[in-house]
Amino acid sequence: MLNIALPKGRLGDCVYELFASIGYSCGDYHEKNRKLVIESADGAVRYFLVKPSDVAIYVERGAADIGVVGKDILMETNPDVYELLDLGLGKCRMAVCAMNGSTQDKSAVLRVATKFPGIAKKYYSSKNRDIEIIRLNGSIELAPILGLSDVIVDIVETGSTLRENNLGVIEEIMPISARLIANKASYKFRSGEVDNIINKLRELI
Ligand code: PRP
Repeated sequence: MLNIALPKGRLGDCVYELFASIGYSCGDYHEKNRKLVIESADGAVRYFLVKPSDVAIYVERGAADIGVVGKDILMETNPDVYELLDLGLGKCRMAVCAMNGSTQDKSAVLRVATKFPGIAKKYYSSKNRDIEIIRLNGSIELAPILGLSDVIVDIVETGSTLRENNLGVIEEIMPISARLIANKASYKFRSGEVDNIINKLRELI
């Protein structure tokens, strides 16, 4: 049985459809219930529905053989897993954003609010810029509105959260999309099966 960690939510639904179309369907997936483990009737595959930011932990520790996770989370947490394929789903970008019309004093320490302190630190250290990280868990756009931070480092997808809060992108950091990852031991011992999945997914996307 192949164990697959899927991110709960819209991205997970898209990823499930991809896997289902290459032969890994589970009748129960679309049932409206709170099950977190779903097995196919033939016992070939078992899905774990996990919080998106936790997928890499399940895969790194071998609870799941493979999983799908955003590049943002891989960059932030650096898990010890193989990154095998860009699925081209969940496309967005990591960016520095600020209130429209604001300016940043280059001689002062920049206050950066973010859910991604690792990415923010790495980005600003590459620019030799001193920053203070303000670690938040959500609604990041609120920080510059209330004067809690000068800028934010965050995901921009449609751009509507920025627009509706009078913020804009001032620097692009990197493009983001969902990646197929594998546990290192699983990949070693099940490489045939995992390579077969990669090839089928490649044909689809
Ligand atoms: C993310 C991100 C932005 C928003 C960007 O937040 O942190 O706030 O989505 O999407 P958009 O460009 O399409 O508006 P999320 O929805 O995950 O909620 P959060 O504020 O709780 O982190």
